[in-house]
Amino acid sequence: MVEYVNVFGLFHATRKQLYVSAAVFTVVIILIIGLSVGLSGKDEPSHHEEISFNGRDALDHAPLVDGHNDLPWNLYALLNNRLSAFNFAEDLSEDSVWGKANCPSCHTDLSRLITGKVGAQFWVAYTSCSSQYKDSIQLTLRQIDVIKRLINKYSSNLELVINSFDIENVWKSGKIASMIGVEGGHSIDSSLAVLRLYYELGVRYLTLTHSCNTPWADASPIGNSYLHNLTDFGVKVIHEMNRLGMLVDLSHVSHNVMRRVLAVTKAPVIFSHSSAFAICNKYRNVPDDVLQLVKKNNGIVMVNFYSGFVNCNDLRNATMRDVVDHINYIRNLIGVDHVGIGADYDGVDKMPEGLNDVSKYPDLFDRLHTNVDNEPYWSQEDLEKLAGRNFIRVFSAVEAVRDSLSSEAPYEDIIDRQELYNAQLSENLTPGECQTAIEWNSIITTTTEGTNTIGSSSVEPSVSTSEEPSVSTSTISSDQTTVTQ
Ligand SMILES: *[C@@H]1O[C@H](CO)[C@@H](O)[C@H](O)[C@H]1NC(C)=O
Ligand SMILES: *[C@@H]1O[C@H](CO)[C@@H](O)[C@H](O)[C@H]1NC(C)=O
Ligand SMILES: [Zn+2]
Repeated sequence: MVEYVNVFGLFHATRKQLYVSAAVFTVVIILIIGLSVGLSGKDEPSHHEEISFNGRDALDHAPLVDGHNDLPWNLYALLNNRLSAFNFAEDLSEDSVWGKANCPSCHTDLSRLITGKVGAQFWVAYTSCSSQYKDSIQLTLRQIDVIKRLINKYSSNLELVINSFDIENVWKSGKIASMIGVEGGHSIDSSLAVLRLYYELGVRYLTLTHSCNTPWADASPIGNSYLHNLTDFGVKVIHEMNRLGMLVDLSHVSHNVMRRVLAVTKAPVIFSHSSAFAICNKYRNVPDDVLQLVKKNNGIVMVNFYSGFVNCNDLRNATMRDVVDHINYIRNLIGVDHVGIGADYDGVDKMPEGLNDVSKYPDLFDRLHTNVDNEPYWSQEDLEKLAGRNFIRVFSAVEAVRDSLSSEAPYEDIIDRQELYNAQLSENLTPGECQTAIEWNSIITTTTEGTNTIGSSSVEPSVSTSEEPSVSTSTISSDQTTVTQ
């Protein structure tokens, strides 16, 4: 106050005038601050970052959209989808079943999602590759069902979203915009009809493969090589997804399939949970030439946090710094418009130090904003793009392609039966064992017992089926308890 007295003293103010001037001065300052704060409200991105802006504050201005959470898989693995036994609203980090001590791949509950400022989440309907050519469709439907039941049960905090426009609306209403993705092309069992019905059920992305090749697209374990690559039928799957408005997710596919899809898709693609291959040489990560194609395609890579994908050095643990490095690498190479977040919580058993569960996203945004060394500067606008604006842009571009293709009829292509047959042989399965559909009629195969016509026997409706005892009502097989990544 002493300084102000001196300043006002220059005008030879009386004591009373001094008080009035000070009051006016104070009111003006309050108005200026109030105006700045008002301008930085949700509707108007702020450029007044000097008013103690923290990176996490970006998450109050744009929804944080995470591309991949496998909680539904854990609901299946731990509870066979019995939501009545699940206390989603509680902090489960020390829970005897869901806590980190018992379940290293459990990172999600409602209270931590709220702490984590999550605005929108893709919940993943995933079924193990062991169900391919068997009951993958039924198991995928069960996972879509449990996601919908979870959303309905917690409807004051979650709301189903099936278009790009509603993400921001639902987030503004204080709920988590909940979307559904299907992880793994084996879930459609080589049928475009099934793909279309998933869309009708509200599914908005299909990851083309999980860790297993489908008959029409190779998965990442194939490395730089190929078995089927993307087949002609695979191209039809992409085009039908474009026509429907289903996001094409390239996480998990082989690098060659990434390249082929980017050459044929009519819409931008996403990587729902993948990081940068140049930093950590795992084939689940995206190589530089593909990153350049994603930029041209106007798509997005949503960075996976999994320790095993962000840090290839087994001698140390992954930290938040590794995730920051992947995000910055992608930004530096192809620009801030093509990077997002797809952490993979609940799908993996090891997360970097500082990013242990879904409550930690704000710490990452704070860290990005306090850029160190030669890291790029993350403005509020940049952070909002990373959080959700890039994804929303891609999603609405996919919807625009769908609308432009609205005069096209659904594709009626059926997969080539020899390709389906060969694909099953390559997995050491007995082709046709589970196939009773019409396209299997009279396919000629050679078995150890000689020439054999699969269709003639398998197309017969089996009357005894419903009476037969169910073979696998028991617990989850060992491969299903592994993490899904
Ligand atoms: C597989 O795809 C890659 C990438 O587009 C291409 O270079 C390669 O020739 C393809 N291989 C076959 C057998 O189609
Ligand atoms: C990595 O983290 C684990 C558990 O947090 C700890 O036990 C281990 O000592 C750490 N390893 C290294 C190399 O720091
Ligand atoms: Zn995955």
